[in-house]
Amino acid sequence: MDATTPTSVPATAPATVPALEAVGIGKRFGPVVANQGVDLRVERGEIHALLGENGAGKSTLVNILFGLYHADEGEVRVAGTPVQMDSPRDAIAHRIGMVHQHFQLVPVLTVAENIVLGDEPTHRRGLLDLDRAADEVVELATRYGLEVDPRATVEDLPVGMQQRVEILRALYRQADVLILDEPTAVLTPQETDQLLEVLRGLAADGVAIVFITHKLREVMALADRVTVMRGGRVVGTTAPSETDEAGLAEMMVGRSVVLRVAKTEARPTDAVLEVRDLHVHDSRGRPAVDGLSLEVRAGEILGIAGVEGNGQRELVEALTGLRHAHGGTVLLGGDDITNATPRTISERGVAHVPEDREKHGLVGPHSIADNLVLNRYFRSPYARRGIRHAAAVDEEARRLVADFDVRTASIASPARSLSGGNKQKVIAARELSQGARLLVAAQPTRGIDVGSIEFVHQQMVAQRDEGVAVLLVSAELDEILSLSDRIGVIFKGRLVAVADAGTLERTAIGRMMTGGADAD
Ligand SMILES: Nc1ncnc2c1ncn2[C@@H]1O[C@H](COP(=O)(O)OP(=O)(O)OP(=O)(O)O)[C@@H](O)[C@H]1O
Ligand SMILES: [Mg+2]
Repeated sequence: MDATTPTSVPATAPATVPALEAVGIGKRFGPVVANQGVDLRVERGEIHALLGENGAGKSTLVNILFGLYHADEGEVRVAGTPVQMDSPRDAIAHRIGMVHQHFQLVPVLTVAENIVLGDEPTHRRGLLDLDRAADEVVELATRYGLEVDPRATVEDLPVGMQQRVEILRALYRQADVLILDEPTAVLTPQETDQLLEVLRGLAADGVAIVFITHKLREVMALADRVTVMRGGRVVGTTAPSETDEAGLAEMMVGRSVVLRVAKTEARPTDAVLEVRDLHVHDSRGRPAVDGLSLEVRAGEILGIAGVEGNGQRELVEALTGLRHAHGGTVLLGGDDITNATPRTISERGVAHVPEDREKHGLVGPHSIADNLVLNRYFRSPYARRGIRHAAAVDEEARRLVADFDVRTASIASPARSLSGGNKQKVIAARELSQGARLLVAAQPTRGIDVGSIEFVHQQMVAQRDEGVAVLLVSAELDEILSLSDRIGVIFKGRLVAVADAGTLERTAIGRMMTGGADAD
């Protein structure tokens, strides 16, 4: 390590000097106390998980550590020295790297360009030396076991690969501390396993890692220590060896959490959704859904298991009117709704929890109340003869915020001020309360904390019991297994199996998801 860099940790540093330290951090957003008296110590070579309910203040804390937010109180120390963190540039100069949940990559540029961007090796005349950049990237990637194709265009890569590029971007700037805010939320189980391997390798090399996740299994498998936050404060620091998933959940939420869904046997009746020989193309015009047929009956949950990228997204988008179907039919209660508009489909009684909440779920600048009635503001009692009835909107919004435990100071706040998981709760609250015949739920609990997952799952089962047909698409096999009455496995745009949930083994599903023997 370069001894002239004042902020790097000398190899001889006593283990007691943390790589990164937050001391007494406080941060308010108007009336919201996002962080209060927060202390965090991250040692060299340590994987430190940061855990807490939606809105607990995790992202706020790491954004302060990375210089994106300015703390109202407290101090950030790097290798024992207090530092002023006014912008990410300061953080990078102190060898702190961050991988954001929403990637900051430039889609049309290559992997190498993205990695060296802002720090590029130049020819004497100031042009980017692409060959040298590619060589450097390959060298870096090999060193950390993060294989990437330096000349591939970022937008062509699967998310797991894009995330590698983000990590390499941080490592290229020689990060001694790597902060990752919910890095596994969008990854497939396979990509997650690969990422965890990479992080272990980095920690073994001495990198200090701060890792935010809602998945307790990952914390147990990966973390050396865990700091738990609740309501803007640290409630404690523990280690996987000292606790278990239930213990972590209780520490987070302050009560014991049922990690299993309680439900009785389904009593399905008539088919609500019938999909016949559906063909849908992906955004590049290639077949994504390839002759798929399925049926969801009133009073049952059909779970679709599959590795992401096997047509799930295109299936859901075609069913909800967001994407054109090239062939086949979609029947709702016997009526043809193939290629109807999203609004028509919604008005016919289809609720949709979309996979991409930033794109389809919320209108960020609008109030939380408006977002909660986005699919019904034009109907009674929220509007009468075209005139908005604010009191009715507010009453419904207050009820949903309380029921779904949306953490916000006010229903008048803009939706974009919510923490990631609370945004998802607003969408779930709206879609699960609209009195639909069919609920299409894509990754409905992505980014939601364990306590709220419990609630959303209960609500989905309650809907089922009221006779709603539920189509669940999830990358979480555990979610599929615990909620579904029947399970379909999707592979390359086709359902390769559909069976009663009780009859399918986890391992068999896993094999079919990857096109294994059982699929035929
Ligand atoms: N830019 C902002 N403006 C207003 N309020 C904000 C802003 N950023 C965060 N908050 C509020 O601060 C609190 C903490 O939010 P934060 O994003 O840190 O939570 P989190 O622990 O990361 O939650 P999640 O698990 O849902 O991502 C929340 O109440 C949130 O609404
Ligand atoms: Mg967050």
